[in-house]
Amino acid sequence: MAAIEVRDLHKHYGDNHAVRGVSFDVRPGEVYALLGPNGAGKTTVVEILEGHRAATSGEVSVLGFDPSKAERDFRDRIGVVLQSSGVENEFTVREVLEIYGSAYRTRRSTEEVLQLTGLEAKADERVGSLSGGQRRRVDLALGIVGTPDLLFLDEPTTGFDPSARRLAWDLIEELGAGGTTVLLTTHYLDEAEHLADRVGVLAHGALIAEDTPSALIDGISGTVVSFQLPESIAPGDAVATFGPLIDAPVRVSGRLVEATVEHSTSVVQRLTGWAVEQDIELAGLSVTRASLEDVYLQLTDHDAHGDPTQEGTA
Ligand SMILES: Nc1ncnc2c1ncn2[C@@H]1O[C@H](COP(=O)(O)OP(=O)(O)O)[C@@H](O)[C@H]1O
Ligand SMILES: [Mg+2]
Repeated sequence: MAAIEVRDLHKHYGDNHAVRGVSFDVRPGEVYALLGPNGAGKTTVVEILEGHRAATSGEVSVLGFDPSKAERDFRDRIGVVLQSSGVENEFTVREVLEIYGSAYRTRRSTEEVLQLTGLEAKADERVGSLSGGQRRRVDLALGIVGTPDLLFLDEPTTGFDPSARRLAWDLIEELGAGGTTVLLTTHYLDEAEHLADRVGVLAHGALIAEDTPSALIDGISGTVVSFQLPESIAPGDAVATFGPLIDAPVRVSGRLVEATVEHSTSVVQRLTGWAVEQDIELAGLSVTRASLEDVYLQLTDHDAHGDPTQEGTA
């Protein structure tokens, strides 16, 4: 049985059709990332699965439960890190872990959770005195204190500095390796690429692609060829000059010229042949495997209103 089953899920907020017929499964032990720009519907989907919002229509099953019933056995087996936390500011970190932990039948010790989340030094400080990133770690700590079989993480690392992010990644990887099923949302592509066994790309309330990160990268993108625009060529002439040589859509941003191509060898041969003939140096010429970011831009570029790299909540 799948850990999560979603069939033709719809959610309307008044006139806003925020989720438009989404279907996917998450297997037990899998780390699944819902990736998409702000407003795509990620939080709505996740909070329906947590039992925090009601679906307009569709079928959802989470660990075999109907989350809208909010049964004790269901709550006992899931951990939740909401996009925006609501932890009481006046308690210390240790106190909130004790309070929240006591709600679960099988809980991790406070010391273990403090250590897993790198909060040992902050244990006796009040939550209200912590930085945004530290408070997010408290959210993460509360998500895992009940030893969940299934953990929901809605943008878990937004606001983290690089070392805190690395720590959170290690923790999520460790949980995944230990058999915990994880449903994660993120707008950080490197996070999805690093952590997820599979990625579902959500845009405008619909799932527009779903696969392993490497299959998404292999299947959709090809190879990225890029170089600096030579001084002798005006930016306005870049597409006309390089389009025929590259034989794929050319992107120009500032002085960077870039294209995603299928057959990079012949493209590089044409480009370098042309450059040598013209006695032009193609500075910074590089040929790299496309990243999940390239896939994501291809998928969401032309129809997404949100800026996927933009921080914040929608
Ligand atoms: N509680 C709400 N009431 C009304 N509209 C909402 C509510 N929550 C989200 N929306 C709208 O639903 C759409 C999807 O939002 P959300 O699920 O938060 O997306 P994401 O998490 O991908 O940024 C957006 O257009 C948003 O404005
Ligand atoms: Mg959200």
